[in-house]
Amino acid sequence: MKGIILAGGKGTRLYPMTKAISKQLLPIYDKPLIYYPLSILLLAGIKEILIISTPEDTPLYERLLGDGKRIGVSFSYKVQDKPRGLADAFILGEEFIGDDNVCLVLGDNVFFGQDMTRVLRKAMERKDGATIFGYPVKDARAFGVVEFDKDHNVLSIEEKPQKPKSNYAVPGLYFYDNKVVEIAKNVEPSSRGEIEITAVNNAYLTTGELKVELLGRGMAWLDTGTPDGMLKAAEFVEAVQDRQGFYVSCIEEIAWRRGFITTAQLRALGEELDSTDYGKYLLALAEEK
Ligand code: DAU
Repeated sequence: MKGIILAGGKGTRLYPMTKAISKQLLPIYDKPLIYYPLSILLLAGIKEILIISTPEDTPLYERLLGDGKRIGVSFSYKVQDKPRGLADAFILGEEFIGDDNVCLVLGDNVFFGQDMTRVLRKAMERKDGATIFGYPVKDARAFGVVEFDKDHNVLSIEEKPQKPKSNYAVPGLYFYDNKVVEIAKNVEPSSRGEIEITAVNNAYLTTGELKVELLGRGMAWLDTGTPDGMLKAAEFVEAVQDRQGFYVSCIEEIAWRRGFITTAQLRALGEELDSTDYGKYLLALAEEK
């Protein structure tokens, strides 16, 4: 399974914060926003990851994350010259995906919850078709919205409907079989001129191959689309880390716990950052028995 993080876009809803820098490089409390979706791919055990961003910002992601060897994975990069839509990830990523299945995560989506690893495993076990997620929200109008029956069969999926048929939003995390590349190439632009991920999901729905997994109330899916959402997400991360002592979406920790790097490698990463709490956290982990 390959992983793609889509981290482009203009971030206009966050201007002037994002006038000179990509939204997904802005901090959520103590780490760049992109660490949060990246940690989801690592938790899923995905080690080959493509990061897609704008011509201006892609070099910055390369500076931040490098080739991935430091955390035992492989990062590659691809430029999206215009924000053509989320489905463009599979067209730009065709060569990278090769014959594999693929997981797409949007660079601005933050997930946290105990059940995450189990949920990811279940989606990865399914070799054919597509898996999306449903998360209950008070107002679903700003999202993809999924409607399903009592057995969780998907009945419809709509992008930003005025009158949502359910209160289940579709978060920016999607698992697809290899057919997604051809499907994406055949998607027509929507009225807002984008090739929508919802159109890809609808293609799977038509062939009866779209599954929805519901994320429960114990799971947090946080919005980072507005300054207020970013502040609340930062407060959430700070509260969990301060209370539990465990870090949220620490990519070095996940790489170590998943066995991508040794304890000695983790210690070396901690030593590089030892003037920060983040570095001290890595060093403390390396001393764990
Ligand atoms: O966050 C979940 C929602 O994400 C889903 O519920 C929707 O179905 C899905 O369409 C998407 O909606 P948004 O309106 O939030 O998508 P947005 O255009 O803001 O793009 C999401 C991220 O992807 C953002 O970080 C920018 C990046 N992006 C977006 C486009 C359109 C790209 O890198 N390239 C693009 O072409």
